[in-house]
Amino acid sequence: MSAAEFVPATADLDGLRKAAANCRGCHLHENATQTVFSKGAVSARVVLVGEQPGDVEDRRGEPFVGPAGKLLDRAIADAGLDPAQTYTTNAVKHFKFRPAPGGKRRIHATPDAVEIGACRPWLVAEFALLDPEVVVALGATAGKALFGPSFRVTKSRGVLLPWPASAARPEEFERDEDGTTGAAVALGTIHPSAVLRADDRDAAYAGLVADLTVAAKALAG
Ligand code: URA
Ligand code: SF4
Repeated sequence: MSAAEFVPATADLDGLRKAAANCRGCHLHENATQTVFSKGAVSARVVLVGEQPGDVEDRRGEPFVGPAGKLLDRAIADAGLDPAQTYTTNAVKHFKFRPAPGGKRRIHATPDAVEIGACRPWLVAEFALLDPEVVVALGATAGKALFGPSFRVTKSRGVLLPWPASAARPEEFERDEDGTTGAAVALGTIHPSAVLRADDRDAAYAGLVADLTVAAKALAG
């Protein structure tokens, strides 16, 4: 199973968003509240890819509006990136969770390779419309979705890579002649949720901002 059969052949971002609302490409839609697509303009110079919506995003239908999103917003500003020039999306568009034992709380569960692969057609369709100068993978799931299963955030974070040449399957992200991305770059960094969980939050936050500053400088240069 995959999202492929639900992705319209020709659609703008709004068309993709509407079609994604009805995606049944994997089992994750069964327990989640709704599809959480993306936020930001198609003309954004920076595209940030997260893992999957969290509890708050699942209820609100918007990516990165919960605690991790608030932290990310702050890090984007501290790195000198213009929030109006960012487009934010996720490798997986439905919230995967398990119920907390005995309670009503829903605990985040990491999407597996099958779910990430099933949802990939949405990400590829988004990139076919976008024309970023910098692509940022937030955390291991996004890193693997963009750069392949051997990508290690701890090893490669903050390092600029050529985009889409560094993608797992670059041909999926190549633009046609009209919409060619010039010399785009990509980089991976830690997920904002990892900052919230870190023993030394200040150091982890500074690391995230440092990596995003590399992205900001790549834009300016
Ligand atoms: N974490 C993510 O990876 N994406 C969101 O949208 C929210 C939290
Ligand atoms: Fe479709 Fe992705 Fe949701 Fe699975 S997670 S149902 S592939 S949108």
